[in-house]
Amino acid sequence: MVEGDLDAIAEIEQQVTPHPWNRKQFEDSFLKHHCLSMVLGDQVVGYAVFTLVAGESEILNIAIGSRWQGRGLGSQLLNAVIERISREAEHLFLEVRADNYPAQTLYQNAGLVEICVRRNYYRTADGPKDAIIMAIDFCFRP
Ligand SMILES: CC(C)(COP(=O)(O)OP(=O)(O)OC[C@H]1O[C@@H](n2cnc3c(N)ncnc32)[C@H](O)[C@@H]1OP(=O)(O)O)[C@@H](O)C(=O)NCCC(=O)NCCS
Repeated sequence: MVEGDLDAIAEIEQQVTPHPWNRKQFEDSFLKHHCLSMVLGDQVVGYAVFTLVAGESEILNIAIGSRWQGRGLGSQLLNAVIERISREAEHLFLEVRADNYPAQTLYQNAGLVEICVRRNYYRTADGPKDAIIMAIDFCFRP
């Protein structure tokens, strides 16, 4: 990710999630965390924000713009994150809303498994939704 990507990223974020991060949150993440942009031609189509500290990694945000979803780009982006962290991290964690099936499929395909559920963690217009915590343990990866 480069700083010039942040406007496009904040715009995609508004389209794809009901509780979007604002531009300032991406600016702060750009300074504090690890960030990848996915670019096609000169267009930003997706992004991932993740931490990598003391052998533990967490994906804080990952998304593909709505017009580019369903073409395998999310899988490529997640694989790029895993490739980046897997030599240093022992574990990768993330949190996903229980009704976010595309994201859960994406993560399961990459080998992440559900490790616990936080009941009623998200407030939504349809009422509270559980958060599923998923993880991959790189120590046991083939
Ligand atoms: C989650 C997200 C990043 C996936 O990106 P994508 O580019 O559409 O993903 P891919 O095309 O690589 O597909 C990944 C898997 O999800 C599946 N999938 C895609 N859309 C789906 C849908 N609407 N319902 C169920 N599964 C779906 C695909 O079939 C694929 O699995 P398969 O290879 O077994 O067929 C994208 O949907 C997104 O940005 N969502 C909004 C933001 C978000 O929810 N981020 C995650 C927060 S935890």
